[in-house]
Amino acid sequence: MTYSRILGTGSYLPDTVMTNAMLAERIETSDEWIVSRTGIRARHIAAEDQKTSDLAYIAAQRALESAGLQASDIDLIILATTTPDMVFPSTASILQEKLGIPGVPAFDVQAVCAGFVYALATANGYIKSGMAKNVLVVGAEVMSRLLDWDDRRTCVLFGDGAGAVVVGPSEEPGILHAKLAADGRYRDILKTEAQIAGGEVDGTPFLYMDGPAVFKFAVKALSDIAEKTLAEAGVQQDSVDWLVPHQANVRIIEATAKHLQLSMDKVIVTLPEQGNTSAASIPLAFDHAVRNGQIQRGQTVLMEGIGGGFAWGALLLRY
Ligand code: UT7
Repeated sequence: MTYSRILGTGSYLPDTVMTNAMLAERIETSDEWIVSRTGIRARHIAAEDQKTSDLAYIAAQRALESAGLQASDIDLIILATTTPDMVFPSTASILQEKLGIPGVPAFDVQAVCAGFVYALATANGYIKSGMAKNVLVVGAEVMSRLLDWDDRRTCVLFGDGAGAVVVGPSEEPGILHAKLAADGRYRDILKTEAQIAGGEVDGTPFLYMDGPAVFKFAVKALSDIAEKTLAEAGVQQDSVDWLVPHQANVRIIEATAKHLQLSMDKVIVTLPEQGNTSAASIPLAFDHAVRNGQIQRGQTVLMEGIGGGFAWGALLLRY
């Protein structure tokens, strides 16, 4: 049987850093409030002329380099984003053109902050079924473009960035198990409802979130799906070397880790310097931990993400 495994990782953060102190100069907030309620200290903001595909391109090149592969070795691109370059074509198609690999199938996945887990689970299915060999999986976002910079409840939370992995076939697993879920009944607690209609933007073009409702939902849903993923894979909690969670709020991360009886020194946390980068947060954290030597080959890693939809998922792998 063919399994899939991660061959290489890469990421990219835009140069401009916005600190909590800089935000506090513009709106009624404080470093103390943001750090104590979220754990966030700073976030990166894309330059005006940088689009999601530009961030994705740099992360993808770094992932290819770390996998020791050329773009021409890729036979499928799956890109998770909530902030596509345009309504259509897909940002994955634009990335494909930038990588110079015409003909390679490419599509976007929209599962907001769960997007990367959805995309990686999809890549796993393609490789295991023999429909693809080397898949480029990217999570890339310019969340800063969806924010109302006068709304302190949301603008302090998000940042921009991109992370990527190259996944390829393997005799050994690899990706051990993935579990995805969604519940559209909760779509109104986290949304950007605008659409383009009749040549105009119809609906509010800013991100809206009922923070406390999302917080409550996230802790329970992430704890449940992580537990089920481990049980279905037949892996004990104490065999998990690293948890790579979606980076939205350090209190959510701590609560989930506690539920899994994982100490925080087994949890990758990049949130303080990056904020919530939606679909990019898990691959950004994963690449960070691989490059600084925390996550080593052969170790067992549990990823988990949740976001608007609601959509959530967990994925267990041996790196
Ligand atoms: O990525 C998708 C998943 N997203 C998440 O998981 C986010 C989940 N939610 C959260 O992380 C938290 O709910 C927040 C960080 C968004 C908010 O924290 P909270 O502890 O739930 O605060 P709250 O919304 O209950 O607000 C408490 C107070 C309010 O003031 P009043 O009404 O009590 O006077 C807010 O107006 O804090 C106020 N507040 C702020 N104060 C200073 C809200 N935002 C700010 C701010 N600075 N930036």
